[in-house]
Amino acid sequence: MNHQPAMKYEKEINRRRTFAIISHPDAGKTTLTEKLLLFGGAIQTAGAVKSNKIKKHATSDFMEIERQRGISVATSVMTFEYEGMLINLLDTPGHKDFAEDTYRTLTAVDSVILVIDSVNGVEAQTRRLMEVCRMRDTPVIVFINKMDRDGKNRFDLLEEIEKELNLALHPMTWPINSGKDFKGVYNLDNKSLRLFTASTKAEEEDTIAINDLNDAILDAKIGERDAAHLREDAELIEGVHGELNIADYLAGKVAPVFFGSAVNNFGVQEMLDTFIRIAPIPRSRETSLRTIEVGDDAFSGFVFKIHANLDPKHRDRIAFLRVCSGRFERNKYYHHVRLDKEIRFSNPYSFLARSKDVIEDAYPGDVVGLFDTGNFKIGDTLTEGDNFFFTGIPTFSPEIFKELVNKDPMKTKQLEKGVQQLTDEGVAQLFTQHGGNKKIIGCVGDLQFEVIQYRLLQEYGAAAEFRTLPFYKACWLTSKDQKKLDDFLRFKQMNSAEDKDGHPVYLAQSEWFLNTEITNNPDIQFHFSSEVHK
Ligand code: G4P
Repeated sequence: MNHQPAMKYEKEINRRRTFAIISHPDAGKTTLTEKLLLFGGAIQTAGAVKSNKIKKHATSDFMEIERQRGISVATSVMTFEYEGMLINLLDTPGHKDFAEDTYRTLTAVDSVILVIDSVNGVEAQTRRLMEVCRMRDTPVIVFINKMDRDGKNRFDLLEEIEKELNLALHPMTWPINSGKDFKGVYNLDNKSLRLFTASTKAEEEDTIAINDLNDAILDAKIGERDAAHLREDAELIEGVHGELNIADYLAGKVAPVFFGSAVNNFGVQEMLDTFIRIAPIPRSRETSLRTIEVGDDAFSGFVFKIHANLDPKHRDRIAFLRVCSGRFERNKYYHHVRLDKEIRFSNPYSFLARSKDVIEDAYPGDVVGLFDTGNFKIGDTLTEGDNFFFTGIPTFSPEIFKELVNKDPMKTKQLEKGVQQLTDEGVAQLFTQHGGNKKIIGCVGDLQFEVIQYRLLQEYGAAAEFRTLPFYKACWLTSKDQKKLDDFLRFKQMNSAEDKDGHPVYLAQSEWFLNTEITNNPDIQFHFSSEVHK
C-alpha cells in the first residue's frame, strides 16, 4: 500500500481553499464576490464590497486613483468561513492597465472562478487571464452571469468559450431560457430545479427535487414547452458529458459551468457548494531546488504583491506573502533568500472578516500581510533557512515603453529611489541602457505612467516626464555561447537593455524585427517572460 507521510498541519491545510475570481471588467466579479461574502457571513449587507474598478475618467483624476488604492488594500484578500472551510478570496484588479497585478495574484491561488457575461461572451481580458491560468494548469470553474438578460444562445455560448479559451466545459446546471423568460436552472448533478427569483436570499421552497425529468411536476412548474426543451437539453448534455471527472478539473483540463445571475444571488450557492466540494486544497509548488510539498514541516512562502502606504510620509509598505508549506509564526526569524538575511515580523496580519488582525500564525494557502520597509521585491521567498526560490512567478513583457526624463537635476537621488521602489512594488518594469544612464519604464497600460509620475512627485518630490519609445516588446535573452550574446548586445546597442536584476533584454520595435532577429540568431534564445532566470 502506498502510505503518504502524515502531514503535521493536515487539518489546517485540508480546510483551506485559496482562489481568485477573474473576469473581463463589468462581467460581474464584484457582485459575485459580494454574494460569496454574504454566504460566508463576512459581510451582512449587500453593497458592502466597494468596486475596485477604476472608472474611465480616472485617467486625469488622481484622487480617484488614490481612493481606489485604498479600496484595493482593503479588499486584496477576503477571508471567510463557509461550511467549516476557510476560504481565501484574492482580489484582482479589473482594469486592464493593471493586468500585471492580476497575473501575479494568479500565481498565489490554487484555483479560479471565471465570470463570463452571457450577453458579451468571451472578451479580451477573459482570453488573457485564461492564458495565464493555463500556464499553471489552474483549475477553473466558470460562472455564466446575467442570465436575467437576453444573452447568447447557451449552446453557442458554451461552444464559443470552449473554442476561444481552449477549455473543455462541463455544465453542472442548465438554464431555462434567459432574459425576461428566464425561469431558473436545472441542477444536472443533484437533479433539482431551482426556480428563478430576483432576491438576495435563496428560499428553500424555490428548489424542487426531480427524480425523473418526465415527471409532470416539471410541466406544471415551467410550462410544457420549456419542460420539453429542458428534457431534450438535459438528455443531450448528459449523453455528451456524463459525470464530472474531478481529476480532470483539478488538472485544469475540464471546467465545470454554472449559469446564474449574481446581482439576483441566483445560481451562486450551487456554485459555492460545488466549489467547496471539489476545489483544490493548497497545492505543492515548484522551486529552484525541488518541489516543496504543501505538507512539509518547514515554513516557506513567497511575496506576490506589494502595496505602498497611502500616507506619503510613511514609506512602509505591505508585502503580501502566500504561505506554501509549514507554519508561519509571528516574531520568528525567517530566511530572506535573495538578501541572505534573517528577518522577523512582529505585526503580521490576516484578513479574516476583512478586518486587519494581527495574527500569531498562518498555514499553507493563507496570505499574510507583512509590514515592509523596503526589504521585499515581488517574487521574494522566505524559508526556515533553505536557499531556494519559488518559480512560476514570471514577469511578462510590458506593452508600452517610455524613457524616464528627469526634470529636476537637484532631485536625482529621490527620483532614483522612487523608481526603484515603485518598480519593486511591481507598478512597472524598469530597464536600463548605457550603463544605467537611460531609464526605460515599461507598463501594460497608459494609466500606469500617470500613476508613476504622480506618485514620484507626491511621495518622493521628484519631477519626471516620459518620452515615448518605439518598442513593442521586451524579450529576455539567454545563450550557451556568452560571446555570441555579448556581440549581439553590443551590435544592437539601441535595442538592448538590462532588467532590474541585470539580465539582458532585447527591445523589439515590431514583430517583424523580432522575428528577423530570432531567425538571424539561432544561438540566442528569446524568451517572452523573465521566468527563464529563476
Ligand atoms: P466587475 O466587478 O466584473 O467589473 O462587474 P460588477 O460586479 O461591478 O458588475 C457590473 C455591472 O453588471 C453592475 O451594474 C452590476 O450591477 C451588473 N450585474 C452584475 N450581475 C448581474 C446580473 O446577474 N444581471 C444583471 N442584469 N446585471 C448584473 P452597473 O450598473 O455597472 O453598476 P451598479 O450601479 O448596478 O453597481
